[in-house]
Amino acid sequence: MVQDVVWGVSIVLMGILAALFAWVATGANVALADYGPVIASAYPLRTWLFGLAVIVLIGVNYTTLGKLPYVSSLSAPSSGVAAQPVAVVAEQWSWNIKPDAFRVGQTAEFRVTSKDVNHGFALYDPEMRIVAQTQAMPGYTNVLRHTFREPGVYRVLCLEYCGVAHHEMTAEIKVSAH
Ligand code: CUA
Repeated sequence: MVQDVVWGVSIVLMGILAALFAWVATGANVALADYGPVIASAYPLRTWLFGLAVIVLIGVNYTTLGKLPYVSSLSAPSSGVAAQPVAVVAEQWSWNIKPDAFRVGQTAEFRVTSKDVNHGFALYDPEMRIVAQTQAMPGYTNVLRHTFREPGVYRVLCLEYCGVAHHEMTAEIKVSAH
């Protein structure tokens, strides 16, 4: 009932606004009559550039959106071997990660939760490039999969400010070659 009234009022206001835009748009051509030569040369270029921008944006979106990490974070392990469940419990100010040692090619399925406040679970590879992340939330378990591709010491950092020792909230995950 209330929604219907709000909806009706919104439609009327949007109609008024659209009419206003149309009025300004039609008036603009008259007011700019002196700039006829400029308009004649610039507007076709503007239209062409706008068309080009639309084509480029559609192309870029089409080729890149499918590569978002969100899509692949829960995909099946490429090896065909079942993912290793990993319990991750965050608390001020430490990580409890079990197990915390893996082999290259192994897929870890992190089940991330928190005992107290919100934390940010971020996994960094040995070169300190972030490779996966999710929220650690009390009363909720976020599932995050990652397949280890190179050996070394990975690090877990907290990415959400959670109190005075937030910066000390780190952990290590060891990945062996075999
Ligand atoms: Cu935990 Cu910041």
